[in-house]
Amino acid sequence: MQVRAGKDTSLELLKIEGLTKVIRKKKILDDISLTVNSGEIVGFLGPNGAGKTTTIKMIMGLFSITSGKISVQGHDVTKDFENAMRHTGGIVENPDLYKRLTGRQNLAYFASMYDDETKNQIDEVVELVKMKDRIDDKVKTYSLGMRQRVGIAQALLHRPSLLVLDEPTNGLDPIGIKELRDLLKYLSKNAGVGVFISSHLLSEMELMCDRIYIIDNGVMIGEKTIEQVKESDEEEIYSYNFITSDRDRTYAYFKSLEANCEQINGGVTVVMKRDEIPGLIRTLIGMNIDIFAVNQSHRTLEQDFISMTTGTKTQIR
Ligand SMILES: Nc1ncnc2c1ncn2[C@@H]1O[C@H](COP(=O)(O)OP(=O)(O)O)[C@@H](O)[C@H]1O
Ligand SMILES: [Mg+2]
Repeated sequence: MQVRAGKDTSLELLKIEGLTKVIRKKKILDDISLTVNSGEIVGFLGPNGAGKTTTIKMIMGLFSITSGKISVQGHDVTKDFENAMRHTGGIVENPDLYKRLTGRQNLAYFASMYDDETKNQIDEVVELVKMKDRIDDKVKTYSLGMRQRVGIAQALLHRPSLLVLDEPTNGLDPIGIKELRDLLKYLSKNAGVGVFISSHLLSEMELMCDRIYIIDNGVMIGEKTIEQVKESDEEEIYSYNFITSDRDRTYAYFKSLEANCEQINGGVTVVMKRDEIPGLIRTLIGMNIDIFAVNQSHRTLEQDFISMTTGTKTQIR
């Protein structure tokens, strides 16, 4: 697929500067800045309510901007909407398809809103999203993964250089997620499309993205390259649940170390590096506290937030 992108591949496709959104006196987004370059898959990671959809709606011109600036290939989304959207394709929340029409009819309908050239793109995008065999069936017979793929085909019809997807893996099964991942990687590496994709799952972002921005409560709390994410994996910061004979003293001890800890379900949970755990156990035993169990949980997004906001090396000694 030929995108409309200029020849200069170092160009920032998407540039968001100091984006702020206030709705009814509440700050939904506070000073968000980020960039997406050509050929890159950039993740936008954050828990529910963080402000991902709000940001994406603003990129697509569906929401007004309180302050700050969004530009696509140098075109300001507010001042030069048409040119910015010429380079932008996206799906916000769910693909908007007519279920009684076939996939092809849907695409033809959307293509009719653009120029004749766009109509000629239909076969190519259908091929690209691997929907050739089913494109003449009605959308209502499609699986969610197929609808998602036709949605992406629709977003690609006018050959945008930037593809924006809001939590596209929601509701997909593992096979659907893998197909989507392969498709996005193909588009970014072979067609030079820049992809901006939101998710609340770190594990998904790790497999797909070149870089990840993390947002929480409308505030950008960090940016990581995938190499940095993998490094912090090696740092092995996990959450451990301690079940002991004296929860209160166990908790007080962890607190005294200034560790991130919490009392739950009769135990105490602490976020720590793996190699710090034997020392903790020895100290607890020295305090005459019996240990019944120590369980290690999987690294969660929440823990990653904690390690990002407190620095990756949790200081406990
Ligand atoms: N139209 C709206 N009016 C008021 N508040 C809104 C509106 N849209 C979203 N919000 C609020 O903005 C915050 C961010 O929401 P959203 O962008 O949907 O988060 P995410 O997509 O990361 O889950 C939430 O607190 C949500 O309640
Ligand atoms: Mg959302």
